[in-house]
Amino acid sequence: MTAYASNAPNEKPESVRKPFGIRQLRAARAKAERLTMLTCYDASFAAASCAAGVDMLLVGDSLGMVVQGHTSTLPVGLEDIRYHTACVARAATSCMVIADMPFASYQASAEQAFQNAALLLQAGAHMVKLEGGAWLAPTVEFLTQRGIPVCAHLGLTPQSVNTLGGYTVQGRGASGQALLDDAKLLEQAGAEIVLVELIPSPLATQLTALLSVPTIGIGAGPNVTGQVLVIYDILNLTPGRKARFVKNYLAQANDIEAAIALFVSEVKSGVYPGPEHGFES
Ligand code: KIV
Repeated sequence: MTAYASNAPNEKPESVRKPFGIRQLRAARAKAERLTMLTCYDASFAAASCAAGVDMLLVGDSLGMVVQGHTSTLPVGLEDIRYHTACVARAATSCMVIADMPFASYQASAEQAFQNAALLLQAGAHMVKLEGGAWLAPTVEFLTQRGIPVCAHLGLTPQSVNTLGGYTVQGRGASGQALLDDAKLLEQAGAEIVLVELIPSPLATQLTALLSVPTIGIGAGPNVTGQVLVIYDILNLTPGRKARFVKNYLAQANDIEAAIALFVSEVKSGVYPGPEHGFES
């Protein structure tokens, strides 16, 4: 896609790819198919990702760090996520769009979560993502009963960096069982996806065996239903020290769409993530 081109993203031919929706998500889990998700914030990267075969796009609150230059996700507001969700959704012809609910937009009550999640669905999201464990289960039930699909986020939950004390691996030792218990409760409350960030690979293996819904991992090893990475990371655009689970796909590709397609094919074939990208118990 070029700027000012006549084939704007929302005019892409329908033949490109069948849209990936909630039914495809459930079917993929049932068939144990590997899924792909990228964190994406704008229409150009959304169009390239869908064309490259990505299943789901997450409008993550990591935009606070990646796009806005903050040192955490805490300053991100609902209007920031709403705006970027609308940008992504306009170009996401075949991908499911998941919008992150930012800090302080859902923790106070289920009603607060519903009102804010509804704005994100009206902006084009098909699902919302919330960070939290057992305490969040009533909210997940409240949203799903009212037509809002939920992706639950466990493990490293960056909005809680001040209580966690840093961006470190979660779920080691006894806290691993607590994570499994939380995940089961969230699934029972209606969560459609459980996303886990920075947990030991053996714990993610246990989690995937325990749940019927798809698990999506970032720094969680190979035995999850799908993998998510931040698009800027796979294109080597993030300055500074790289996280262990990050792989630079642009290094082996001629252009951005080819780099994303390589990520898709490596996830689908099980090449990514390798043992070097995961964490032990
Ligand atoms: O905000 C984000 O991009 C995320 C992913 C890292 C899972 O939550």
